[in-house]
Amino acid sequence: MGALHQEVGEDEQVSITWDGRFERGPHPSMFAFTRSIDVDLRLLPYDLAATKAHARTLVAAGLIAREDLSSIDAECDELAARYERGEPLAAANDEDVHSLVERILTERLGDTGARIHAGRSRNDLVATDLRLWCRDASAGLLDAVTRLIETIATFAEGQIDTLVPGYTHLQRAQPVSIAFHFLAHGFALSRDAARFRSAYEAADVSPLGAGALAGTTLPLDATVAARELGFGRVFDNAMDAVSDRDFASDLVYAASLCCLHLSRLAEEIVLWSSAEFGFVRLADEWSTGSSMMPQKRNPDVAELVRGRAAASVGDVTALLGLLKGLPLAYNRDLQEDKAIVFRAVDRAEASIAATLGLLGAIRFDKEAMARAAAGAGSWATDVTERLVMRDVPFRHAHRAVGGLVADLERESLTLTEATDDSLGRHHPKLTGDDRAVADPRTGLAARTSHGGPAPARVAEQIAALRLAAKDVRLG
Ligand code: ARG
Repeated sequence: MGALHQEVGEDEQVSITWDGRFERGPHPSMFAFTRSIDVDLRLLPYDLAATKAHARTLVAAGLIAREDLSSIDAECDELAARYERGEPLAAANDEDVHSLVERILTERLGDTGARIHAGRSRNDLVATDLRLWCRDASAGLLDAVTRLIETIATFAEGQIDTLVPGYTHLQRAQPVSIAFHFLAHGFALSRDAARFRSAYEAADVSPLGAGALAGTTLPLDATVAARELGFGRVFDNAMDAVSDRDFASDLVYAASLCCLHLSRLAEEIVLWSSAEFGFVRLADEWSTGSSMMPQKRNPDVAELVRGRAAASVGDVTALLGLLKGLPLAYNRDLQEDKAIVFRAVDRAEASIAATLGLLGAIRFDKEAMARAAAGAGSWATDVTERLVMRDVPFRHAHRAVGGLVADLERESLTLTEATDDSLGRHHPKLTGDDRAVADPRTGLAARTSHGGPAPARVAEQIAALRLAAKDVRLG
């Protein structure tokens, strides 16, 4: 039991920012459990930016001499450079990134460093750092997903006439083009782009000046730091400012949904590269082999994009669960948000990059896709609709063509091989001309309805997709 009361030794005094009211230092186990620097050191560049901005607020209030700004800036820049170089910065007794920065500035600048935290709390500081981080991360993901959309749009341009079966229930349904199919993924990604854009806007509010929860008695102007940090807005309510993690939730959800979309695309690459489909072959550089079976070419990258999306779903649950029961205002639970946000964003970035790589590595077997598009009665709806145009009630036409499909299947015949007689037997308004629909190109060209796969419609969709991606771009 003795160990429970053990203190941090004299020589390893914790550089805590709150030691004044305590007689004894933190227990090493308590310190290890609560310490967050391994995770939040990643916020260092933002903590330094926020510190430089807050220094200007203090100068404007006359609480730091204007002449001291240059040395504060120089120390912050030096620290940022050391971080960039990957130098180890954290001392064993640094609790988090905020106390590390304050310790180093105080060591280097004496009283000037010791003045820097006036009117500020780690509660508004960590919210500021995380908002700045999320703003950049949203911009980065927006950029990455836009590149993916552009790749899909360019690919689609060249494949407007390339046939592939469209599926429902994973059964061949109606012929489409591979351009049309990939554009469907492109539009899902364009909604992700819009969500990253709105996550950017959500993060773009400065909480600096909210203090611990209720502002400060010091004559500080919160707009000084907000302007300095390039925030679009300043918080309205200090208590909300330190408690709010909606912006982080928005980003994690946007990242999660994006990973989910990539997972669905990846699933198709997995299916299509199987011998059963045989639509796709992945370049050697993006395929993997088997340690035992010499013949294997495996789509591991697509499988990992699909597999990792599972954890993205978990991230949304983890963050919302973290927040749901918290009383206002700051609670230490909030420290746990960063690991979730970081890993959600890292994973989305990695999965987008991997998908870009995969798309560049795909070779389509156009003949196999066209063969499949022609099979399994994919023409049946088109023949039915021809009858509807000849004033046959849809349900009657459906039944008649269903009978035709069944007969041909029984006799192992294609529509091209159907005799005029057998067509007429199924419905008097069916003619030999209807055999033309057996060619999936006819069906594709005829599907000119809004948003459909006909070449002219697909060209419109490519333009619309590009416009959507352009509209959500920042700046
Ligand atoms: N490391 C803390 C976090 O990430 C910083 C804020 C600590 N605030 C406090 N009152 N203990 O949330």
